[in-house]
Amino acid sequence: MKTLSAFVFFIVTSVASLAFWGYEEFVPNGAVNSCNTCHYSGAFADDFREAGGQWTAALAALDSNGDGASNGAELGDPFGSWAVGRPDPGDPFRVTNPDDGED
Ligand code: HEC
Repeated sequence: MKTLSAFVFFIVTSVASLAFWGYEEFVPNGAVNSCNTCHYSGAFADDFREAGGQWTAALAALDSNGDGASNGAELGDPFGSWAVGRPDPGDPFRVTNPDDGED
């Protein structure tokens, strides 16, 4: 019984920490595509890491997935003026995935 509750505790805390370091809150409209925002092809994750793990005007101007729309245009913040903690910009239904060239 003790082992089982330790196991359950482990699962719950691991899931919680994954969500915590998932970086979703660090890009505008990150919740729309959730983990896939960065982990569909990984191109946007690389650019995000190179930007210092921050949403910046330079990162917004890049087109990580090479589909012709900048990361900022895809995430509803074309000029990269959004900052962590602010309400998501733009219309969530028009958000596309900066990590998926088909979206
Ligand atoms: C805004 C971008 C972003 C989002 C959203 C994001 N990640 Fe990541 N993730 C990264 C980056 C960047 C790294 C590489 C970390 C490093 O090297 O500093 C990473 C690394 C990881 C790793 C480690 C393995 C590896 O490839 O290095 C896992 C596992 C992971 N992420 C899972 C998730 C999960 C699960 C979610 C959703 C809850 C998520 N990520 C959301 C950017 C993101």
